[in-house]
Amino acid sequence: GKYSVAIVGATGAVGTKMKEMLENSSLPIESIKFLASKRSAGKEISFKGVTYLIEELVNDSFEGVDIALFSAGGSISKQYANEAVRRGCVVIDNTSAFRMEKDIPLVVPEVNSEALKNHQGIIANPNCSTIQMMVALEPIRQAYGLDRIIVSTYQAVSGAGMSAINELKTQTSQMLAGETKVEANILPCSGDEKHYPLAFNALPQIDVFSEDDYTNEEWKMVNETKKIMEDDTIKVSATCVRIPVMTGHSESVYIEIKTDQVTPDDIKNILSQSEGIILEDEPKEQIYPQALTSVDKKEVFVGRVRRDLDVTTGFHLWVVSDNLLKGAAWNSVQIAERLHAMSLVRVNN
Ligand code: A2P
Repeated sequence: GKYSVAIVGATGAVGTKMKEMLENSSLPIESIKFLASKRSAGKEISFKGVTYLIEELVNDSFEGVDIALFSAGGSISKQYANEAVRRGCVVIDNTSAFRMEKDIPLVVPEVNSEALKNHQGIIANPNCSTIQMMVALEPIRQAYGLDRIIVSTYQAVSGAGMSAINELKTQTSQMLAGETKVEANILPCSGDEKHYPLAFNALPQIDVFSEDDYTNEEWKMVNETKKIMEDDTIKVSATCVRIPVMTGHSESVYIEIKTDQVTPDDIKNILSQSEGIILEDEPKEQIYPQALTSVDKKEVFVGRVRRDLDVTTGFHLWVVSDNLLKGAAWNSVQIAERLHAMSLVRVNN
């Protein structure tokens, strides 16, 4: 059959990309609706050349809907996802609301599609920074085992939503115009007390601070990695940094594998044959992944693969991807495509 699909948060930075990914998806779509807040209700939105009106999100929005993609913030997901499931709708949730719940699959299709088989209506899309790291590291883990990950991120502002994108644009113009007062009301984190300019800056805070002085974003990378790879023994530490880039998260990833005598060429060989990865690694030609060149691409780009100078099982990689696509909208639509291919678009077990 064909599906009735809904996007929750259709006007947002991720929701807009979900629409684009669905326009180009093989998923058989019978009908589609675009849901957002009251503020957006009645505004026009076009899908495959047809104009639709945005509707206000209410519980009954999900009546007759088969698949809903949620990206309107964690509190909206907590409020509406179960209501949607109750109405027979499968929810693919891009927020952090359900990711660590035991019975809810947390899925990167290249890594753990099998986990979809156990879904009970809600499937969680991992954090953007986690997703691209999983795509890059899973093939290495399959080949050589993975003992430890130390990652530092260089994250784009679009991951913080439309209002953060606009804030960075305004700040940048203000600074270039030599204005003395540069406003900051959202970043580093709308839910925290203090705000700092991101323009011409680097902010080592994404989300609020939590245990052991790590931020929530850093804990997400730690906990989600262990859940997706189904291995609680992997050592993971993260430092997450917001930089003034519009789209494309970059990551400096240090790994220690469980096999001796592996060379960077071995790792590059594996990466170049892996699903969803494009290896860009020609130092002599100055070829390496960049945020700007990752924009609008669905793949994860990996380069700068090199051995650690001291640890014989240690390697460094530079991992880049479009945070709105593989990090969010594309991963969600890819999950929908897999559910369809696996005949899992149904609620109940
Ligand atoms: P709206 O544009 O009507 O506010 P972003 O992540 O870019 O900030 O986007 C957030 C998305 O979530 C937007 O589509 C926004 O719609 C939507 N949203 C925010 N609050 C609500 C709400 N109370 N009900 C439904 N959608 C909401």
